[in-house]
Amino acid sequence: MNTILVTGALGQIGAELVPALRTRYGDDRVVASDIRIAPRERLGRNGPFEIVDCTDSHQLQAVVRKYRIDTIYHLAALLSAVSEQKPQVAWEVNVGGLYKVLEVARQERCAVFVPSSIGAFGPSTPREKTPQDTIQRPTTMYGVTKVTAELLCDYYYHRFGVDARGLRFPGLISYVAPPGGGTTDYAVEIFYAAIRYGRYTCFLKGDTQLDMMYMPDAINAAMQLMEADPKKLLHRNAFNVTAMQFTPEVLAQELRHHLPHFTLDYEIDPVRQAIADSWPRSLDDSAARSEWGWQPRYDLPAMVRDMLSKLRTKAETH
Ligand code: NAD
Ligand code: SER
Repeated sequence: MNTILVTGALGQIGAELVPALRTRYGDDRVVASDIRIAPRERLGRNGPFEIVDCTDSHQLQAVVRKYRIDTIYHLAALLSAVSEQKPQVAWEVNVGGLYKVLEVARQERCAVFVPSSIGAFGPSTPREKTPQDTIQRPTTMYGVTKVTAELLCDYYYHRFGVDARGLRFPGLISYVAPPGGGTTDYAVEIFYAAIRYGRYTCFLKGDTQLDMMYMPDAINAAMQLMEADPKKLLHRNAFNVTAMQFTPEVLAQELRHHLPHFTLDYEIDPVRQAIADSWPRSLDDSAARSEWGWQPRYDLPAMVRDMLSKLRTKAETH
C-alpha cells in the first residue's frame, strides 16, 4: 500500500493533486508538505500536513521515516519567471532540493515523481511537434534546472535503482490555486479578468503559441505514470505530454463564445516574451501515449467551458 509525501503541496498543482491522491489512496496515506503554512481552506480538512523545506535533508528524512513514505511527488520548485528574477535561488531549490529528495529516496527506498516542463527545451529545439528525444539547450535558469533535474533523475534510476519518473508539463490551467510565477500564467489570469472586468491586458504577444493542459488531465497524467508498468517504460525523465495548443488571440476568441464583449489588449513583458519565444509551439507526446496510455480528456472548448463554470460557482460560494 502506498504512503505518499507531496512537497510544494500548496502550489497550483499540489492544491489539486493532494485531494486526488487522498481520494484514491486514503486521507492518512497522503502527507501534504510545503515550506509555508496551509491556509485552512486548502487541501481539505483531512490528512496530515507538515512543514518541509525540500532543501533540508533532515526535515525530509524525518517526515519520510515518521510516515513510512514510499513515494514522493516532488512539486517544490520556482517557476520560469521567478527563476529568471532569482536564478541563484532557483538553482538552490530546483536542483539542490531535488538532489536532497533523491538522496532521501535512495536511502529510504522511495519512488519519486518529478515534473519537468516545456521549459526544458530551448531556441535550438525543433519548435513544431517537438520530439520526445531532441536537442535540449534552454537559455533560461528554469530550463537549465529542468534539464539537470531530468538527467539527475535518470542517473539515480540507472545508478541506484530509484524509481524516478517525470512528465514535461506544458502550461497548466486551473481554478483552485493561482499559478506561482510562470510564463504561461496569462492563460489562468485571463479567466479571472474576463469574468470580473470583461477585459484583460496580456503580457505575451497575441500570436505566441504554446502547449497547454487543463489541470484534471495533468493530475491524471502524474498518477497514471506513477502507476504504469515499469517494464513498458522506455523513457522515464521526462515524458512529453500535451493536450492543446493556443495563442492569447485564439483563447480570447474561445472566451468570446461565452462572453461576447470580452476584450484583450497587450502590455508585453520582454522577459516572459523572450522565455515563451524560446519554448516549443507544440509537443509530440506519442511516447507517453504508446508507453503508458496517455490520453488527455480536455481540448480548448471543453477546458474553457469548465473553467468558466467552476469560477462562477467559486465566485457565488465566496
Ligand atoms: P507553484 O509555484 O504553484 O508551487 C510551488 C510550491 O513549492 C509553493 O507552494 C511553494 O511554497 C513551495 N516551495 C517553494 N520553495 C520550497 C522549498 N524550498 N521547500 C518546500 N516547498 C517549497 O508551482 P506548481 O505550478 O505547483 O509547480 C509544481 C512543479 O510542476 C514545479 O516543478 C514546476 O516547475 C512544474 N511545472 C508546473 C507547470 C505549471 O504550469 N504550473 C508547468 C510545468 C511544470
Ligand atoms: N507554466 C510553467 C511556467 O511558465 C511552465 O513550466 O513556468
